[in-house]
Amino acid sequence: MKAVLLIGGEGTRLRPLTCNTVKAMVPILNRPFLEHVIAYLKSHGVDDIVLALCYLPDHVQSYFGDGSKHGVRLTYAVEDSPRGTAGAVKNVEGYLDDVFLVFNGDILTDIDLTAMMAFHRARKANVTIALTPVEDPSAYGVVETEADGRVRRFVEKPPREEATTNLINAGVYILDSDVLPHIPANERYMFEHDLYPKLLARGVPVYGFPSEGYWIDIGTPEKYLQLHCDLLQGKGVTALHSAARPSDPASVARGGWVHPTARVEGPVVLGHGCHIGPAAYLKGPVVLGEDCIILEGAAIEGSVLWHHVRVGRQAVLRHCIVGDSTSIGDGSQLDTGSVVGDHVVISPGSYLAPGTRLGDVSQEEPTPPPAGPPRARQDPGGSP
Ligand code: GTP
Repeated sequence: MKAVLLIGGEGTRLRPLTCNTVKAMVPILNRPFLEHVIAYLKSHGVDDIVLALCYLPDHVQSYFGDGSKHGVRLTYAVEDSPRGTAGAVKNVEGYLDDVFLVFNGDILTDIDLTAMMAFHRARKANVTIALTPVEDPSAYGVVETEADGRVRRFVEKPPREEATTNLINAGVYILDSDVLPHIPANERYMFEHDLYPKLLARGVPVYGFPSEGYWIDIGTPEKYLQLHCDLLQGKGVTALHSAARPSDPASVARGGWVHPTARVEGPVVLGHGCHIGPAAYLKGPVVLGEDCIILEGAAIEGSVLWHHVRVGRQAVLRHCIVGDSTSIGDGSQLDTGSVVGDHVVISPGSYLAPGTRLGDVSQEEPTPPPAGPPRARQDPGGSP
């Protein structure tokens, strides 16, 4: 089966992490997100994949090439302007077979695609939408179905007490090529708001396939951190990670050098070449990318640091994300939910209040100034 992976969005909610790279390339356990998704698709026999791109396409192409190193065949389709989720599929119509899979490129799941395909065929559906349960449906669009799974209607953000279901669209679809004529060419067109309501109105058989499998959308920093916690604590698996899951949670993949007086409480992943200095404290879940340097007495808890990050003496990082080649000054504190982009230099003694975003966030609402001075500057050529 062929698949179209939708990875053309700008990932604005993940900024500043997506200022220099696409959401599909952000590291998950030190490997690009997309690599995990491709391994999952491959495990279900999907090895012919069209990547529908728009924003920063070169990053993906230069890493994955023709896909042969990852055991799949990749075709790239770059939109000159964003076509929307359905418009992006219309744009690659010429590559597609009678039945194909479409996957939002920012979700990680273990939904059983093989069972979903069997469901699609048994119902003689034209569209099957994977559905996943959420605790509070009021923040999402829910999908109401009949007992046999046929979609009755889509309800956008129902108040909790009025919601008749907690099943939402999981961003995984099986489509018959018969539906492609319903998508206008060369237009921005969305599955959720444009195509599916139109198909329902015309009586086209659209079905929902409920799944209890693991599912997460990494669209926000909170969810990005959550995914790392889930993977390291064994609540979620990826086709890449499951094979490497250790029996000892204290050291998932240890490389580099850890001073004998440093404390590492798992689960922690250390990239190659990391140096953990004297009396430093890592309290998992923590992931450090390659060549990170953690100086004496620094403490890091529940955080993800990308490559080449330097954390100064006695600095404290709690539940935060730090981009490539950023340097955190001695004695600084990054409080819960702080997100720092690439090549930022944080001066010694800085304090980042909870939820601070620092880096190139120019296209976003500015973060309110934290209580203390985050005396930080952008350092375009910076290295630790
Ligand atoms: P935000 O800006 O944070 O909302 O992120 P996003 O637009 O990247 O993601 P969103 O959740 O809106 O979209 C779901 C998936 O569809 C993501 O994997 C996007 O990359 C992808 N996507 C959204 N719009 C387009 C588009 O116009 N073209 C293509 N090819 N993919 C798209």
